[in-house]
Amino acid sequence: MKKKDFTRRRFIATVSASSLAAMASNAVPSFGNITGLMQSTGKLAILGGDPVRKNKTWPTWPYVDEKMVDSIVKTTRSGIWCRIQSETGTVPTFEKEYAALMGTKLCVVTGSGTQALNTCVEALGIGPGDEVITSPLTDPGTISSILTSRALPVLADLDRESFQLDPDEVEKRITENTRAIMPVQIGGQSSNMERIMAIARKHNLRVIEDAAQAHLAEYQGKKVGTIGDLGCFSFQSSKTIACGEGGAIIGNDEELMDKCFTVQNHGTNHKGRTVIGGPKYRMNEFEAAILLGQLAGVKERFAIRNKNAAYLSSKLKNFPGLVPQKLYEGTTSGSFYLYMMSYNKEHFNNAPRSKFLKALEAEGISLSTYLPNGLHKEPWTDHILNLKVYQKMYTPARLKKYRDELGCPNCDKVIDDIAMIWASGPLLGNKEDMDDIINGIMKVYDNRDKLNSI
Ligand SMILES: Cc1ncc(COP(=O)(O)O)c(C=O)c1O
Repeated sequence: MKKKDFTRRRFIATVSASSLAAMASNAVPSFGNITGLMQSTGKLAILGGDPVRKNKTWPTWPYVDEKMVDSIVKTTRSGIWCRIQSETGTVPTFEKEYAALMGTKLCVVTGSGTQALNTCVEALGIGPGDEVITSPLTDPGTISSILTSRALPVLADLDRESFQLDPDEVEKRITENTRAIMPVQIGGQSSNMERIMAIARKHNLRVIEDAAQAHLAEYQGKKVGTIGDLGCFSFQSSKTIACGEGGAIIGNDEELMDKCFTVQNHGTNHKGRTVIGGPKYRMNEFEAAILLGQLAGVKERFAIRNKNAAYLSSKLKNFPGLVPQKLYEGTTSGSFYLYMMSYNKEHFNNAPRSKFLKALEAEGISLSTYLPNGLHKEPWTDHILNLKVYQKMYTPARLKKYRDELGCPNCDKVIDDIAMIWASGPLLGNKEDMDDIINGIMKVYDNRDKLNSI
């Protein structure tokens, strides 16, 4: 059966003749007819049936190979363990290679993605009294990078389909104190950067891309992370390029990148002069050794994840029960650190997401939720509103408005509905692995009348 456009109408229009007969007799259409994969009406594994996937493993993550091990051993034996010991050590070498990989002039690495983001905030001179607009659907590191400089993280609501910042909501949150936008490229895919950059230009704001999850992703012919003034990445263990803890800033503005170097080097510049106050965020040589050791296969793994993500999305195209993250026009690839979908319970006999995930887990397919709450609902907001420094730097009226405007209803809905794959490892699997994912989903869908009883 041919796949057609994804709409509820098309979904009904594309089911096979046998399904139409079934529908006529008031039975449910089978997902198997939609995906073109196996017909799966077997008993759910959670109810004692055979699981879709057994005795198989997913590609493991983080990725380890002999090159990485050799690279670490070499660094250990060299005695060059800190970047200031050598200009040709692993850290400066990795900076050059990462800049080349990303197509930027310069790269400065740090001890984490959070540190990379805070380095940018500091380098742009953003501090107490200033505001930075960002997304509530992110790692706490995003917020922390703004709070560390005692600036105000202002959270704007999301686009329900892409899970990314809604540019209209961003524009609504701009005040006279707004200095920057920090779009989070969630999942590793680009947000609507065309609109975000246009808003930034219109209001004279800087853009720090939180591309912590988005290594190598491309949008409108540019690498994500190279579109704003500065782009930041994370190499924390789970990321698609990983070293335990690590981060990078990329950019083309030499003066600004020089400032980034100085900030993360406790205010000490390339000439060894301590010219400003700054934190010490330097990456160590072991972290860069691991990173250098894994660069060789990075593009290949990126291509595999993209191919598998495209395959999954093509299979889900006519299925309204689980809708993949919307990609903006101009997105030619994603990092697919996360393969995110929205679970629509009305197509699963109104079964709550937790039951769907439980049934799928028993089939050998692990989808999960993302965050328990958007960051607008975490207690840090109360904490900062009660801090003396915030009460000094922001007027009572501003802080009241801030509290009043903390709601992000689209983000709440997105969080309630997300069903996703931590994709760094699993999306490196083969076609059979991807078919297992679809077949698992399909089997649970075909048994949706049983879901509420589990
Ligand atoms: C979107 C996003 N921003 C920021 C960070 C912070 O990076 P790190 O954990 O390396 O400090 C992460 C890491 O999980 C992230 O996913």
